Amino acid sequence: MRSLIDILELSVAEIDELLATAEDIIANPEKYADACRGKKLATLFFEPSTRTRLSFEAAMYELGGNVLGFSDAGTSSASKGESMADTAKVISCYADIIAMRHHQEGAPLVASCNATVPVINAGDGGHNHPTQTLADLLTIKRELGRLDHITVGFCGDLKYGRTVHSLISALSRYAGVKLVLISPKELGIPGYVKYEAMSNMEWEETTDLEAKLPELDVLYMTRIQRERFSDLDTYERLKDSYILTADKMKLAKEKMAILHPLPRVNEISVKIDADPRAAYFRQVLNAKYMRMALILKLLGAAKGKERRPEPLPTARGDEGLIVNELKCQNTRCITQTEQELDQVFRRVSDTVCRCIYCEKKLGE
Ligand code: NCD
Repeated sequence: MRSLIDILELSVAEIDELLATAEDIIANPEKYADACRGKKLATLFFEPSTRTRLSFEAAMYELGGNVLGFSDAGTSSASKGESMADTAKVISCYADIIAMRHHQEGAPLVASCNATVPVINAGDGGHNHPTQTLADLLTIKRELGRLDHITVGFCGDLKYGRTVHSLISALSRYAGVKLVLISPKELGIPGYVKYEAMSNMEWEETTDLEAKLPELDVLYMTRIQRERFSDLDTYERLKDSYILTADKMKLAKEKMAILHPLPRVNEISVKIDADPRAAYFRQVLNAKYMRMALILKLLGAAKGKERRPEPLPTARGDEGLIVNELKCQNTRCITQTEQELDQVFRRVSDTVCRCIYCEKKLGE
């Protein structure tokens, strides 16, 4: 059984294969109309979502499969205190594959170590969002014709924007990708992305969007993530930091692609929607095709195999794991609430240990 929790679990060859499947689905949708007949996808959304949940559901229906699930954590047994492990074991009795979004970082990893069917991380807190990355990669490929030798600007909330973290990790695998990280100082990229995924990449940080706009092949805009701020005064002060207007777009390359995972608040003027460089609604459609390709891949891999959970991180034989000696201090980490979950840290250097669930550094 194979799940998708972190985008780096897919090799470049597997990503290429998913991109090719998505292109084939776009060209020949009728070929896939019965591909998942009799299969069920459970969508467990403990956190609000419009497009991710509906796009998973549309993807499964277009493959001829069925969907069950919930979109409001208040209607699930989690509100009665059920653990993530038990929820995952129970849902595995009803569905062949699970797509899950959760406000706690690391929750999908815990689910995948307990479910007996593949689990797809559809966003965990401010941490990761690998299927949005698949949509982003297909969009960049279709807009620019390549994924290598490009300059990508990320603008807005790079601290809490989980789509940014997963896309940077994926881009770190392609040659000649340069990153320009544009954010207020308070909303810069977290350490686990900067010191790991970005360690082999060329990158710079700035607060000035206009100065860097002329160099970009892709501009990835994000909203400031209000729900992740512990202090709303800071949100109010930072919320309008970047607004892309038609005037600013005069500074950009003629072939630049504007991406945005959506929802947009006010960071892109609606006047830009008619600009051919605005790729964000095409990105929404691409997301559905990439999710179809992913469901096909994971169900295909699970076919005929014994149903059993992913091995626990402590049972994988990874080197450098420290078990139950340290405690994660990230208040959004799943280890804060899940019953009897081992605290597991990975030693990444002589001085740094990271929680394997949320990747935060001890004390971060
Ligand atoms: C993003 C998310 O949920 O992280 N939306 C999405 O899945 N397309 C971005 C956001 O909420 O800002």
